[in-house]
Formats: sequence, structure tokens, C-alpha cells
Amino acid sequence: MTRKITPLLSSLLSLLLAIAAIATLPAQAQVLARPGWAGSGVTVDPWWKHAVIYEIYPRSFQDSNGDGIGDLKGITGRLGYLQSLGVDAIWLTPIYPSPQVDFGYDISNYEAIDPQYGTMDDFEELVKEAGRHNIRILMDLVLNHTSDQHPWFKESESSLNNPKRDWYIWRDGKGPGQPPNNWQSLFGHSAWKYDAKTNQWYYHKFYPQQPDLNWRNPEVQKAMFDVVRFWLNRGVAGFRLDAIQTLFEDPSLQDEKLLPGTNDYGDPNQDDSLTDYLPEVHNVLRDLRKLTNSYPGTRVLIGETYLNNVGDLAKMYGPKNDELQLPMDTQVGFINKLDVTEFRERLQEAETGLDGNQPLLVFDNHDNPRSWNRYGDGVHNEAIAKVLATILFATRSTALMYYGQELGMDTNTPTRKEDVKDPIGILGWPREKGRDGERTPMQWDESNYAGFSTARPWLPVPASYKTVNVADESKSPNSLLNWYKQLIALRRSNHALHDGTNIVLNHDSDNVLAWIRRPATGAAVLVACNFSATPKSLSFKQDLRQNHIRGAFLRTLLRSDPSIQPTMDIDAVQLQPFGVYIGEIHF
Ligand code: GLC
Ligand code: CA
Repeated sequence: MTRKITPLLSSLLSLLLAIAAIATLPAQAQVLARPGWAGSGVTVDPWWKHAVIYEIYPRSFQDSNGDGIGDLKGITGRLGYLQSLGVDAIWLTPIYPSPQVDFGYDISNYEAIDPQYGTMDDFEELVKEAGRHNIRILMDLVLNHTSDQHPWFKESESSLNNPKRDWYIWRDGKGPGQPPNNWQSLFGHSAWKYDAKTNQWYYHKFYPQQPDLNWRNPEVQKAMFDVVRFWLNRGVAGFRLDAIQTLFEDPSLQDEKLLPGTNDYGDPNQDDSLTDYLPEVHNVLRDLRKLTNSYPGTRVLIGETYLNNVGDLAKMYGPKNDELQLPMDTQVGFINKLDVTEFRERLQEAETGLDGNQPLLVFDNHDNPRSWNRYGDGVHNEAIAKVLATILFATRSTALMYYGQELGMDTNTPTRKEDVKDPIGILGWPREKGRDGERTPMQWDESNYAGFSTARPWLPVPASYKTVNVADESKSPNSLLNWYKQLIALRRSNHALHDGTNIVLNHDSDNVLAWIRRPATGAAVLVACNFSATPKSLSFKQDLRQNHIRGAFLRTLLRSDPSIQPTMDIDAVQLQPFGVYIGEIHF
């Protein structure tokens, strides 16, 4: 915030505000107003700095009424599971009324719930029950575009002089049958769609059914900020900002530069600099942050920020820390191969390149093949998944995970075009097979349809569900699910993992990724991950010396090899193939 008040006055004010908030708000809001989790009894950080955020694709999590489509009541019924996993917040991908062309990302009403997923009462029940489980709810906020069925667009397309005409991006073509310029949709082919009635074209960065809003029109911002207030008033703890990079387009409307080669849709590759991350985005983010900051409790803004260098990512936090709290860092999670040097450098950058801001690591979401398949070698997938989880939860980062990641769910990519549901998979087949593979039903148990539904689910359950499911993995102490539970619990209870700085070590020549978490007081913790199929025995004496940490042995906190002893010599840390060891440093 940019209000000019002295620090003392400001802390007094926040104290008063906090007291007022706690005194006047209903139970759920009190949960939101609580300070950060205080498991180690010391932190005063906001909750999101230590959070585990769990992304739910509501269509695929749990069906409660037997129509093969997941719903809000289904999620409410599974809160106990999420709490036992250690989840602090759930991000729900869009649940608003939608023609479902892009499975909810084409919104026709921002202030209601799609009947497929339930009612507003179901939503309020979910927020309330989640609060009882100490879980916050985050909504997906799609600012860039609406559905072409949204009343705003219906009005806008109705005539050239409709008051909402300028809410979207309408332009004359270059000539008969020719769009205004060469801009392409991210989802294939021209980004312009012709409207015969008014003889103009509208711009859509995504599907033609997702017309882009014109963020240069102040009425658009006003209308969307009303949407934000609507949900903040209903107790949501923040938003994940969809497609935030594409809010603005260059008003010159010049052609984009063409690059060599073609994309998965057969279109020539383009440089997107006239439609991607225009500086105006930052003004909207600052205004939005002011708005969320004005609400009691800490509300968080997460950004869908696919940026390929740390400098650009750093800008998303805002020069005065007044934009996004958590732009997602895709530098680490989408390396897509277990390259120890890449991982070390990207993790190091998150430490040094973000101006001290909090990184948000992510490996999986509803738009990308699951990390299980992107990193797995087909032999050691489970061990590799444990390595990735360790990077996600035992570094200093806020952790963003995706349902089923904790089980090792497979990416179930369709093998026949006629089975594809995601339109980009139909348009792009066979080079782009769409995103159905990573959106399959959650695997709860080994019953029919994996316990997701009594009816045939909207997408098929991957074959592996008979063993990869919550019920079976809960029973097996060394399962991936139990690894997630233990890691998350340790991240909360261990002082160093909760609050410590992150010192990234260089063991590239050993093919080992290792780091030390060092708290202000008390024992530091060493984390070591073997990036190879060869067993290792390593000394970390040199690393301790270089970092002025005294230590002779390690007290084991967590290890993927169950035969490892409760203590370990600092000179001979044992790692099995793709093994993980986490130990407290003692002397
Ligand atoms: C984001 C969403 C994706 C959606 C697109 C358009 O990238 O994550 O699923 O298709 O925006 O809204
Ligand atoms: Ca249902």
C-alpha cells in the first residue's frame, strides 16, 4: 500500500484493525484473520509464506450426485483428507456458470456457481467447513476474457454503438475477409473472429468463445473489481489470477514479428511482444492489491506467470511489494529433466533474484502433463516423485501442488482424437493432444471409477488407479502419499525448515542436489537428493565449513530409504538411487 503513515502509527493501526476484525467478523473470517501458522511458536509471517496450496480441478475431484462430474459437495466431503495431508488453502479452478468450452475458463456470470458444481449455498458451506479444517479457499479470477455468452459480450456484439461495445476489442478488418492483423490465438489460428452483423472483428487470445476484455476501458476494471469484492465478502482468502500476462494489447495493432518454424497448430511461430506482458498489467495488479489489502485478514494474490527469467518474475511482486504476493515460479518446476545444475541454478536464482520476495514453486497443474511423467524415467518414477516433493516442500518456497500429485497419478493422454474433450487437442491433433490427460478423476480407492463417482466419469480413470489411490497408499508407510504427509508435517514442525534461510550447495559433480536450511537460532538442516540411479556416499564437511556451521553428525528427520539409521556421519551421507535424506546438523 502507498498510504503515507509512519511505521509506528501504521502498526498501531493494523493492531486496532486486527482487533476490530476479530471482534466483529463471523467464525470463518476469524480463521482468515489469524496470523500465520505458529507451529514453531515464533513466526509472525503471513500465512501464505509457509502455505501448502492445493489446486483442485472441481470437475475431477469428487462427484457427490452421480453424474460423473465433480462438484462442491464432493470437495466439502473430502476436507478431512486435505487436512490430514496438511493443506492450508485450496485453489479452485473456475466454478462459475460457464458454457464449459474451456471447462470453466469461459465465464458467463462471475457472481454465481455453475449448477453442475452446485449452488451458492454449497459454496458457502464449503468455505465454512474448510474454515473448520483450517483451510482457506482461493478462487480463480479470469480477468482477461469472458465467455461469448456473458451478457456483457452479448450487449457488446449487439451493435456498433452499444454502450458496452468498447468493453471488448473490436476492430475493422484490413479488407474483406481479412482480420485486422496477424495476431494468433494461443489456442491456434487467428486471434480475430469476424462478426457479420457489425462487420467488425473481435480479439480473443484464447478460444473464439473467450473474447478479450478491453482493459483500457475503466468501466471494465470497475466491473471486475466489483466481482473481486463479491468474493472477498464471501470469505475467500484470495485469488489465482488467470492469464494475467495477456490483459493488454499494443494499441498500434501492428503485426507481430514472425519467428522461424511452425507451432503445434501448424501456424507460423510468432513473437508475442505486442500482446504479452505489456507494462500496463502492473497498474491493474497494484490497484488489485490495494483492494485485497483493504480487507481484513491477509488475502493473497497468486499469478499465473509463465516467465522465463528471474528478472521478469521479480517484477511481478511490484517495486514496493505492492503487486502479487505469489507469482508462480515456473523456472524450477518445468525444467522437465533431472539436471542437477539447472535445478541448483534456478533454486539459487529464487534466493538471490527475487529481491528477497517469497518464491512460489509449482511442478503440476491442469495445463501441463503431470511431473510424474515429465520427470519419471519409467523405472524410478516413485523415487523421483519423492525428490520433486522434497524440492517443493523442503526449500524456502511456498508450495503449490495439484490434486493427485501426492499419489503419483499418471498423465492419461487420449490415444484417439475422437476421445479428446479439450478443444485444443481436437484442433492440434496429433501434435497437441490437449490437457485431458492431466485432468482425470482423483483416485480415491480401487473401486469402480476409483471412488470418484458411481457413474462413468467425464474423463476416463488411468489404469494405474488400482494401486495408485488414497486408500491403498494410506496403508503403505513408504508410499508417495505418506512421503507428502511426512514432508508437509516436517515443514511445519521443524524450525529450520519452517523459517530457515536456504543455502544451496554445489554437488553437481556428484549428481546430488543439496541445500541447508539455517534458522536464526538452533540446529540447521541438511537436505540431499540423489539425481541419479547410482547409490552415493557423500561428505558435507566442506559445505559446513564454508558456511561456518559446526557439525559432525546428522540426526535423521526423514529419508526415503527406510533402512537408514537415526543418525548419520556428516562424512558419509548415504543416498540410494534417487534417494532423499533430510537430517538435522549436530556436533
Ligand atoms: C489459463 C488456464 C487455462 C485456460 C487459459 C484461458 O492458462 O490455466 O486452463 O485455458 O488460462 O483461460
Ligand atoms: Ca456431480
